[in-house]
Amino acid sequence: MHKNLILGTTIAGAIIAYALKPKKPKTELEAKGVPIPTTPTYLPLQIDGVLHYILSVLAGRDELEFLRAISTEMGNTINLRGFNQDFIIVLDPSSIQHILAKNQPNYEKGPEFQAIFHEFLGSGIFNADGEAWKTQRQLARPHFQTSEFRDAALINRHVDQLIKVIDNHISKSPDAPLDVQELFCRFTLDEASEFLFGETVNALELGNTEFSTAFNYAQSITAWRFRVPLWRYVVPTKQFLREIKKLDTFVYKIIDNAIARQEKRVMEQEQQPGDGKHEMKEGYDTLLDHFLSQRSEHGFDREYLRHMLLNFLLAGRDTTASLLSWTTWKLTQYPDVLAKLKQEIAEVIGPDTVPGYDDIKKLKYQKQVINEVLRLCPPVPFNMRQSVEEDLLPNGYYIPPGTPVSYSAYTTHRLPELWGEDALEFNPDRWGPERVGSIKPFMFVPFHAGPRICLGQNLAYTTAQVTLTRLLQRYDIQAKPGFEPQQVGDIVLFSRNGVEVLIRKKSISKF
Ligand code: HEM
Repeated sequence: MHKNLILGTTIAGAIIAYALKPKKPKTELEAKGVPIPTTPTYLPLQIDGVLHYILSVLAGRDELEFLRAISTEMGNTINLRGFNQDFIIVLDPSSIQHILAKNQPNYEKGPEFQAIFHEFLGSGIFNADGEAWKTQRQLARPHFQTSEFRDAALINRHVDQLIKVIDNHISKSPDAPLDVQELFCRFTLDEASEFLFGETVNALELGNTEFSTAFNYAQSITAWRFRVPLWRYVVPTKQFLREIKKLDTFVYKIIDNAIARQEKRVMEQEQQPGDGKHEMKEGYDTLLDHFLSQRSEHGFDREYLRHMLLNFLLAGRDTTASLLSWTTWKLTQYPDVLAKLKQEIAEVIGPDTVPGYDDIKKLKYQKQVINEVLRLCPPVPFNMRQSVEEDLLPNGYYIPPGTPVSYSAYTTHRLPELWGEDALEFNPDRWGPERVGSIKPFMFVPFHAGPRICLGQNLAYTTAQVTLTRLLQRYDIQAKPGFEPQQVGDIVLFSRNGVEVLIRKKSISKF
């Protein structure tokens, strides 16, 4: 009892001393700027606010709607202060443009973001700033401009496999619902791994592998690190590090194979007459081969290559699966949209032609549907930066130095003052020629914007369009009565309970 009293008094004293700590005098810029409205809390260190948030999440409350409700009350620039740490959120397009493009160098991933991702992603592109980021971006960019995915052959190969799995499900249990989210995650893991490493993980065939389970676990722990202030002391690491080891074992095997391939190629090249210089055949190598070909700068640094691969896999895999899952769900909810889309596919592609890159670019309505899904269900619903120096936003609000500054595509994409009174309605026609002019830059940011805009944007659209086209050519997809997905905004926007639909093969004449 006596011990508890001493402990209680010490903690209370520390909190009061911390709360009453004299404030630093304002800088010139701070005096000029407007302080950002802070969510109201009543206890020292905003403990009530922090606990309320964490308990809400643990109880399964939708975090994204939680934030949207706060913004409806408090406006589009908010400070969610916790443990005396500012956590600023900007939602209006001019502020988003400011942090992502106009004053981008002042808004880095920063040390806090990098610490959160450190064991998982190391210093890979997604987790790097400055020169380390620039070098990787420059190295990777050409690979995304090559023709490897332009003829959509790689995507179509994996869709063949996806179709096999769905056909198998239908023949075994024709009336049972199918969780397409789970299936799309395996599909995009296979596609991304082949695109990046030249070896597929074969998740569609094998089901959840040790690699995919470890990858999922690492992501969910990382999402908790984002949510919890002082995560270092709270979020468990032991199991996390074990799972990371499994990822490493898998990836290093692929890297060692690729290094052996590359060494053999270089040796063969050197034995051939010519100037001995090694030239890559653009468009046919994997991203890993592409990085290996730059060995003069980075050598065969296995750790560097490991970071690179896992970063690209994280960036590319779940995001596209999320897009495909929410699109399927929306189509089951809007039969008129589905009918119009099927008609376009029938007219432009035909009932069973395997679409190539140029074919799907003609599917204008399909692109509108996908954009509308990216608006309401952006796969990356929330994103964070950290200010380097102090700054003023275009609306006059003051940003202190070293402060987390985030934006939420999910909330910005739903603001009625930007998108109109029907902002919450799913309406692909808003992307049609009559209305598209009112969509201004930085209102729609599913792929980020500015110098760090998504490298895989084109690959993502192509994958989504080819896959949807082929599935709608072959199947009737309907809602499972009574099923409602429960969105959860981890790093990627998924449904906690999957996306269950009823799926049947259709006869050709029905198209
Ligand atoms: C619908 C699918 C996708 C969405 C919505 C999406 C969205 C995003 C977003 C929001 C970012 C910014 C992340 C940040 O800086 O914090 C990003 C970055 C990135 N994305 Fe995507 N992405 C998608 C698919 C892909 C694919 C398929 C790939 C490649 C296989 C890819 C590769 C990348 C890379 C490498 C970056 C880092 C760029 C940089 O920091 O310079 N993405 N993506």
